[in-house]
Amino acid sequence: MGATVLMFVSLFMFVTSQTTDDTIVMTTASVGCHVNCECNQTHLVCSDVGLKTFPTPIQTSVTTLLLNSNRISTIDVEVVSGLNQLTTININQNQFSTLELVLPPSVQTLSASGNRIKRVNLTSTTGEPLQLKEINLSENKLTSIPVLPSSVEILEMELNRIETLNREQLSPLVNLKVFRVTSSQIKTINDDAFDDIINIEIFDISLNSYTEIYRKWFENKPNLIEVKVRTFQLNCDCELVSVYDYLIGRDLEVDDLPQVTCATPKPLIGYPVENVVQNNNITGCKPDMPMVFREVPQGGVIFGVIIGVLAICGLLGLTVWSISKHCEGYSSL
Ligand SMILES: *[C@@H]1O[C@H](CO)[C@@H](O)[C@H](O)[C@H]1NC(C)=O
Ligand SMILES: *[C@@H]1O[C@H](CO)[C@@H](O)[C@H](O)[C@H]1NC(C)=O
Ligand SMILES: *[C@@H]1O[C@H](CO)[C@@H](O)[C@H](O)[C@H]1NC(C)=O
Ligand SMILES: *[C@@H]1O[C@H](CO)[C@@H](O)[C@H](O)[C@H]1NC(C)=O
Repeated sequence: MGATVLMFVSLFMFVTSQTTDDTIVMTTASVGCHVNCECNQTHLVCSDVGLKTFPTPIQTSVTTLLLNSNRISTIDVEVVSGLNQLTTININQNQFSTLELVLPPSVQTLSASGNRIKRVNLTSTTGEPLQLKEINLSENKLTSIPVLPSSVEILEMELNRIETLNREQLSPLVNLKVFRVTSSQIKTINDDAFDDIINIEIFDISLNSYTEIYRKWFENKPNLIEVKVRTFQLNCDCELVSVYDYLIGRDLEVDDLPQVTCATPKPLIGYPVENVVQNNNITGCKPDMPMVFREVPQGGVIFGVIIGVLAICGLLGLTVWSISKHCEGYSSL
């Protein structure tokens, strides 16, 4: 009997203490803060709280805005553009279909993965260029690399719908160091696509469906340390031999190329790229071509010869031209 009473008493105490705790939590949460969010001077955290609309007002001292895993589809552009201490915005896993933001130049990191974004337009409140360093646009519906500020160093664009990657899309991103665009349905990457991202350190274009790979993608990028190019199939042609030779020569980390098989030519279809290259099964390539490009002195000699030939041709042309001018002079006499 005594035990039962004790049990009821303790149960009662437990319930009341729970209620008191909840009340305290509610009170702190609602001080200048949206229901269920956590706020302090610098952070507004509303992760996975079922928000349907952008929470306003927001203290202007906020540096970090975490709104991931909600059902928000629009941002109050005016509110965000007034947050001049803001450095980080995370709107991952929401329902945005466009990302049209006017951001203060203090923003460094923008994460907007897992939405349905088709269009991106980022501008700055001051008219000065934005200083964004890191952008995550993975798991969206983008069909090309959007126009982004040249300050971007890390760009993640996995799981989009980018069919073609070309130089024009990437040329503004001269500070890019890490570029990931895996599983994005890419069918074509032009040979000059990466010509302007010369500071690149890591690029991951794996799990796409391009079949041609170019040596130019890797050349003149002194900081490149890691390359992921695992497509499904590759054309087993002389360019591939050249790429292999170049990558091995530079000692780059390319761990996934061996798993790819040949898409062409017919006799090599389905054979692993690595074996085919190592066994010299790709025929008709200039045997010394890779060496010429790799060895600087030989390259220098070739270059010299070309310049020499050009110079002689030029001189000959000039002579022929001046003789014909002479003749013209005579004939008009
Ligand atoms: C605000 O909260 C974040 C975590 O939500 C914490 O990392 C940070 O230190 C807090 N800042 C202040 C001033 O209390
Ligand atoms: C991008 O947004 C800015 C500011 O809202 C606007 O002036 C500009 O026309 C937009 N650009 C595009 C291409 O939509
Ligand atoms: C970018 O978003 C994707 C998808 O949500 C995630 O897997 C990845 O880890 C994110 N990248 C970074 C650097 O946070
Ligand atoms: C590739 O070359 C190796 C060594 O010469 C040979 O044994 C193999 O049959 C060739 N494979 C194909 C698919 O031609």
